[in-house]
Amino acid sequence: MADFTLRVRRYDPESGEAPYWEERTVSLEEHRSVLEGILQIKARSDGSLGIRCSCRAAICGSCGVRINGEPGLACKTHIGAAQRHSQAIGKGGVIEVEPLGNMPVIKDLIVDMDAVHWKKIQRVTPYLIGRQPVPEREYIVPRESMLDITQTMACIQCGACVSDCLSMEADPGFIGPAALAKAYRFVGDPRDDRRHERLLDLSEDPQGIFDCTHCFKCVQACPKEVNPMGQIMRLRRIASSDEQIVDANNGVRHEAALSTLIRDYGLLHEAELLPRSYGGNSWFGKFHPAAARELLSSLPAIVKAVLRRKVSPRQALLGHKLPPEDLKAVKAIYEHVEGRRSPHRSERYELNLFIVGEDEDGNESAPAGAADKEQSA
Ligand code: SF4
Ligand code: SF4
Ligand code: FES
Repeated sequence: MADFTLRVRRYDPESGEAPYWEERTVSLEEHRSVLEGILQIKARSDGSLGIRCSCRAAICGSCGVRINGEPGLACKTHIGAAQRHSQAIGKGGVIEVEPLGNMPVIKDLIVDMDAVHWKKIQRVTPYLIGRQPVPEREYIVPRESMLDITQTMACIQCGACVSDCLSMEADPGFIGPAALAKAYRFVGDPRDDRRHERLLDLSEDPQGIFDCTHCFKCVQACPKEVNPMGQIMRLRRIASSDEQIVDANNGVRHEAALSTLIRDYGLLHEAELLPRSYGGNSWFGKFHPAAARELLSSLPAIVKAVLRRKVSPRQALLGHKLPPEDLKAVKAIYEHVEGRRSPHRSERYELNLFIVGEDEDGNESAPAGAADKEQSA
């Protein structure tokens, strides 16, 4: 048994007081959880402390909080490990516990999941719309397809990814990591009848799949390894490559512009980024009328970037290239990757590495995840 100091963020909107920090000491074995520490405070010193919890086994998703500034489950975080983490990041071993971010606080550590998280889940039509015609008996589904969506089915709706999503912080209207991972659960399900419509909807929504900035925060935050960012990238790939959706937000063109610029110069050539993103790109042909508004709205950002010296006008206009041997190495990577998708190799393999283990015959363990075999675009 050891003593641990918890520094808890307190807030009661009904009191009219501003949020404040409060320190309490708890006695626990170090393999106990931070949640047990919080519940000990409630039981022994302050019953008014607000925390939501149920299963205490990382299953129900209700105890999401930030511990030492990082989102996670209080019941899944060992209190000893949290103390060592606090020491490592210079907080002197005091374990800081605060509510999840990007959601309004109801009281102390309880956030309003209805106002943000569940609203966004509703946004993606979170249920199966059965493929027509309905079979006389059950739908027969390939085993690989179900393995492919198992990763998204592991989500326990804890909101940890929502808490630290940088895009949601900048744009609260962004559909967000948890809801988009949920969307993949149905897009990837062969029994669903609305795959194209779902992808079109999520591509055309300016706060949809192209609003993610690849910051990886949701990947790090998720206690169930759902990899929401990975699911968003899969939605994008299927929408653009398989369903041939070119969105009005220019998401597909912008991605292609970045990719082709790096292929051609080895570095981002800012002066060509906009023309290629907004229609000058021969890969995607004509200028999209809806992109005109986007182009105009980007001008202040461009001026700001130049004024703040994030972009040097000389480099932006004249471009910059890697030394020839480095550029050759970059091009070789592209050739290697694009070669895998050449017409001579008509199949594309995706490995979902989420499910690992040994099969029943006791063969070597291998990623037994979905070897998703699809026709190349
Ligand atoms: S990777 Fe995308 S969805 Fe995930 S936290 Fe970052 S911006 Fe949000
Ligand atoms: S994706 Fe992960 S972090 Fe996000 S709600 Fe689901 S389980 Fe929680
Ligand atoms: S109490 Fe259920 S996930 Fe923590």
